[in-house]
Amino acid sequence: MTDTTHATAEALVAPGKGILAADESTGTIKKRFDSIGVDSTEDTRRAYRQMLFSTPDLGAHISGVILYDETIRQSTDDGVPFVKVLEAAGSIPGIKVDTGAKPMALFPGETITEGLDGLRERLAEYRELGARFAKWRATIIIGEGTPTNFAIDANAHAMARYAALCQEADIVPIVEPEILMDGDHDIAACEEATGRTLDALYKQMVADRLDLPGTLLKVNMIVPGKGNPVQDDDATIAEATIRCLSEHVPASVPGVVFLSGGMSDEQATSRLDAMNRMLAAGEGAPWALSFSYGRALQAPALSAWGGDPRNVAAGQRALAHRATMNGRARDGAYDPAMESAA
Ligand code: 13P
Repeated sequence: MTDTTHATAEALVAPGKGILAADESTGTIKKRFDSIGVDSTEDTRRAYRQMLFSTPDLGAHISGVILYDETIRQSTDDGVPFVKVLEAAGSIPGIKVDTGAKPMALFPGETITEGLDGLRERLAEYRELGARFAKWRATIIIGEGTPTNFAIDANAHAMARYAALCQEADIVPIVEPEILMDGDHDIAACEEATGRTLDALYKQMVADRLDLPGTLLKVNMIVPGKGNPVQDDDATIAEATIRCLSEHVPASVPGVVFLSGGMSDEQATSRLDAMNRMLAAGEGAPWALSFSYGRALQAPALSAWGGDPRNVAAGQRALAHRATMNGRARDGAYDPAMESAA
């Protein structure tokens, strides 16, 4: 693979920085807008993303931004394409290319992510529009008798094929198997399902001849289900996550970026910080540990904005604050006291 793709992968997980996931599909962003009572139209979505991407000094802690198909084609009020706004801020534009997790036929309760048909042509267009990295998300569901190895393997196979098409197009693939937090399972069940998924994924990626240094992994932290009465502390979560990644992620992968998946903003920050502190105090790890948060970066900005153009600066301050906190956590240098100092 090219030196550029290695450099892009490394830049996305550079010290002090991580990724802003702003690739909500039209359906998902509607849910977010419903929560603040704002209509979701092409123009309100554009106004919201313009606010996020024009945040002063965005590139200080945001290495890259994942966009959605509609968003990568949009521009500011002044006609500047969002891709150019991000590049000028020093953030790398990326693109979500899967077309969603659909119910898997004959496997009740499990999903298969679609989007391979026509992907080569879509990647060529996205590259032309300025995307330098891409994302594909598979959802793995812990339940009665699930995840099955069949669902894990089918998703791993699709993800590896997606990643190969990205490398052919000179785009860094982020592979995102998300073991969902829904359910009442314990932390051990999450670790088992995540480990099994990562083994299947990397077996497939090696078989598909992928150049692992030109890829990134996006995954959940090892946490209990939301419905489990036992909610483990940050140290237990950090330890289990590092153990799982050490056992199942090849050393040639340059970085692992976490999704927030329903954790609170501050949990997402403090748990990442706990992991980076553990690595710094111990033997370290072959890959960088950083963030690729959607909700945990955007939630305070979304509510501060509330759809009102007069609140743009307040929304941007809220995003900049969470980006700064997570940038610190990327380096194991976060202190909860920094939250109130803002
Ligand atoms: P959350 O951080 O809100 O889970 O979103 C990240 C993401 O990109 C999920 O695919």
